[in-house]
Amino acid sequence: MSCRVSLSVIRLALPRNPTLVAKPVSPTLRASRLLVRFNSLSSVSTLFSMPERRPFVRLPTDVYPVNYGLRLKPDLIDFTFEGKLEAAVEVTQGTNQIVMNCADIDIITASFVPEGGEEINATGFNYQNEDEKVTLCFPSILQKGSGSLKIDFVGELNDKMKGFYRSKYTTPSGENHYAAVTQFEATDARRAFPCWDEPAIKATFDITLIVPKDRIALSNMNVVDRKPYPEDHSLVEVKFATTPIMSSYLVAFVIGEYDFVESQSSDGVTVRVYTPVGKAEQGKFALEVATKTLPFYKDYFSVPYPLPKIDLIAIADFAAGAMENWGLVTYRETALLIDPKNSCASSRQWVALVVGHELAHQWFGNLVTMEWWTHLWLNEGFASWIEYLCVDHCFPEYDIWTQFVSADYTRALDLDALDNSHPIEVDVGHPSEVDEIFDAISYSKGASVIRMLHNYIGDEDFRKGMNAYLLKFQHKNASTEDLWECLEQASGKPIAAVMNSWTKQMGFPIIVVDQEQHGSDRVLKISQKKFCASGPRNDENCPSWMVPISICTSEGPSCTKMKVLLDQPETTVNVTNIAPDHWIKINPGTVGFYRIQYSSAMLESLLPGIRDLTLLPVDRLGLQNDLFSLLHKQADMQEEKNRIERVLGAIPAPDLIQRVLNFALSVRKYTHTLTVENRSDCGIF
Ligand code: BES
Ligand code: ZN
Repeated sequence: MSCRVSLSVIRLALPRNPTLVAKPVSPTLRASRLLVRFNSLSSVSTLFSMPERRPFVRLPTDVYPVNYGLRLKPDLIDFTFEGKLEAAVEVTQGTNQIVMNCADIDIITASFVPEGGEEINATGFNYQNEDEKVTLCFPSILQKGSGSLKIDFVGELNDKMKGFYRSKYTTPSGENHYAAVTQFEATDARRAFPCWDEPAIKATFDITLIVPKDRIALSNMNVVDRKPYPEDHSLVEVKFATTPIMSSYLVAFVIGEYDFVESQSSDGVTVRVYTPVGKAEQGKFALEVATKTLPFYKDYFSVPYPLPKIDLIAIADFAAGAMENWGLVTYRETALLIDPKNSCASSRQWVALVVGHELAHQWFGNLVTMEWWTHLWLNEGFASWIEYLCVDHCFPEYDIWTQFVSADYTRALDLDALDNSHPIEVDVGHPSEVDEIFDAISYSKGASVIRMLHNYIGDEDFRKGMNAYLLKFQHKNASTEDLWECLEQASGKPIAAVMNSWTKQMGFPIIVVDQEQHGSDRVLKISQKKFCASGPRNDENCPSWMVPISICTSEGPSCTKMKVLLDQPETTVNVTNIAPDHWIKINPGTVGFYRIQYSSAMLESLLPGIRDLTLLPVDRLGLQNDLFSLLHKQADMQEEKNRIERVLGAIPAPDLIQRVLNFALSVRKYTHTLTVENRSDCGIF
């Protein structure tokens, strides 16, 4: 089956790091999850070098759905499915045609029944394959008002891991069986049924699946009826409860053989983790994570989870890492299952993060949905930040934020320093562009700037703003600006202006800092310029950012003594009451998305904080990472070499350092030979 083939193709495209090739979804490196789907920035450069964008128009709004009554009958032997759609629609303006999304589906019949009127049969189905649309043509005008659109159709259970597809699994007795599963994000619901496949066109769904009676059938909602299928006694008809109003990309169904473990979260939601048959044990850890996570989000957002159940299911063939379908979250097996006897701590951390990520979307994404794919970065960036907040709350012993800095944050800085990076927020038109923007910039830089924003606003006001946003836009759609406005109101800070400088332009600044002692005050000279991996940029149009800067001193290495917003190229800051022998550090906690270049004296003064470990691990990591990145681009290489040696000299594990250093140097084609001398026993890690 070709989905097996495509998985291995993705694996081969994976990183140079051999450990990642052997284990595609590495639990230790956040970066790797993106490599499963996205090969670094290559897709991004394709997007930006595209000569011409295909013209794209959204669906007309003269007819829109209110409710989809959908019956699907998959055939797990022929790999086809039959479908019947009976959609309650509103006609807002008289028309003789209905335009919907539709791809790889054959419509057999279509008709429209106006409320209280006669059925009108469609006289033609005009497929626009390139645009994945179909126009249903009617012989007379469909008048303004309510009506019912009926469509009978057939499709293929494809092997492309998108739309409604087949997934091969091996039973405990060694036989190969197939499951029928869905993956609709971003624009593949249209491959399972004709629909208005845009995130802002929300409707309720009544789903019925006709399936072999020995198979499990799941969908977004709980089962309300299960009865024999009159035409074939080997089948049953499973009817699910009506969903809340939702976007088509979040609809899901799964038909296959699974075991499950079940629990109730403290807020009364039934949680099940579905595993391959015979592996229920391996679902227990994810079950624990999910039951802890749901109450965390309920409390954090001050909004309860709106569905009666949530299922988490491991799918044998799955293109992404996981998908947040409302009430039925699908995962690749390695992102959900934990073998209690043989798994390592990093695998558990990975599962906890993925579960935390997808469950965050149940609120942020599913309850409040982006108005258009342009705002996708916010959906993914937010979930990629809050998953850490959640795991840190549920499993404080993991010290998970250090992992955020070592994986997401530093990776985002590295990629975003390249000349072929792109702004987090990109205009998206044609559906073919959507997949291209799911990259490390949307995820890791997105998460990093949300983390910086959270720190700038403070947790209390951030939560207040989030709650206002979720309440105002629940069951609706929102844009990035809507969130900024709610956070601005809650905090009284210029959130939109600050955040626009980070999301609408690519790259980030390097903050250059120098200090002078004036009596009991320390005067800091702070300036910003764009950080470029290819060398300093001194042209006139050099961009600048609104940079939230916090400052700490040796008196409280993890406490912010002062905060300033750098909203110009340079400024001076007066830090009062600081003894001449005390150090000052910028960016405690390494939350700001920028690099720092200290004067030699300031850097030197930080060495004791590195040696005696009073500087937080994330800060030592941040310092080290900044120094490496500065290594190749300084005019005075000798001074840099000395500076780096001084800091590295404070780190133990000389072999490791030498290897890291060699790697950094070979990558940057820097030919000087560095020797790490004068190592002490106290260290950075
Ligand atoms: N919504 C995405 C999955 C997705 C992305 C589907 C792009 C289709 C196109 C989901 O929430 C997600 O972000 N999944 C990640 C794993 C996650 C833990 C970061 C993935 O699939 O890589
Ligand atoms: Zn996501």
